[in-house]
Amino acid sequence: MKFFADTAEISEIRELAETGLLDGVTTNPSLIHKSGRDFLEVVGEIASVVGGPVSAEVVALDYEGMMREAEVLRKIAGNIAIKVPLTPAGLHACKSLTGDGTMVNVTLCFSAAQALLAAKAGATFISPFVGRHDDVGFDGMQLIADIRMIYDNYDYATQILVASVRHPMHVVEAAKIGADVMTAPPKIIWQLFKHPLTESGIASFLKDWESTGQAIV
Ligand code: E4P
Repeated sequence: MKFFADTAEISEIRELAETGLLDGVTTNPSLIHKSGRDFLEVVGEIASVVGGPVSAEVVALDYEGMMREAEVLRKIAGNIAIKVPLTPAGLHACKSLTGDGTMVNVTLCFSAAQALLAAKAGATFISPFVGRHDDVGFDGMQLIADIRMIYDNYDYATQILVASVRHPMHVVEAAKIGADVMTAPPKIIWQLFKHPLTESGIASFLKDWESTGQAIV
């Protein structure tokens, strides 16, 4: 499973990239707003730190506007994935952009029918928002399972990018289902490392090691 960081905070991205486990980054207009940074500048900086796909979202709602913005965004770096909303215009732009080799992340997916349309439009990634889906009383993980089944039925190459991840169990459940990618805030990615038995185990091994009086040299 690929791990993307869902943030526009460059320091957090650098820190995660040092683990060697970071495969990409997703941003959205709200995350750019939170960063307080210039959109094009921060996306360029992120794309120079992370070798994998960096999603940058268009804000136009019409096809021509999306294509104009995509043209600006894809010039930033070779690893930019253009993020488009799951609308008829967004899927039209998706088809045109992927047709000439640009990566496209179709965002704001909340149904299996929408995910099917995105695959037909040749999306590189489909982003079902599991947390927001759970929030309104639906089962986000059932959505991931349904999309997995549909994509496997037809051998669609579109990668399932689980988004709106709220806790480590979202990641585990998505991995069990076979989602290709998950994107999560850095805090949640760091939580994946943690287990109290790992921490207490290290403490007791170190204590016993000190008692041996030895050193590894
Ligand atoms: C995905 O690309 C989105 O940026 C993100 O996962 C949205 O998550 P939220 O529901 O926590 O805002």
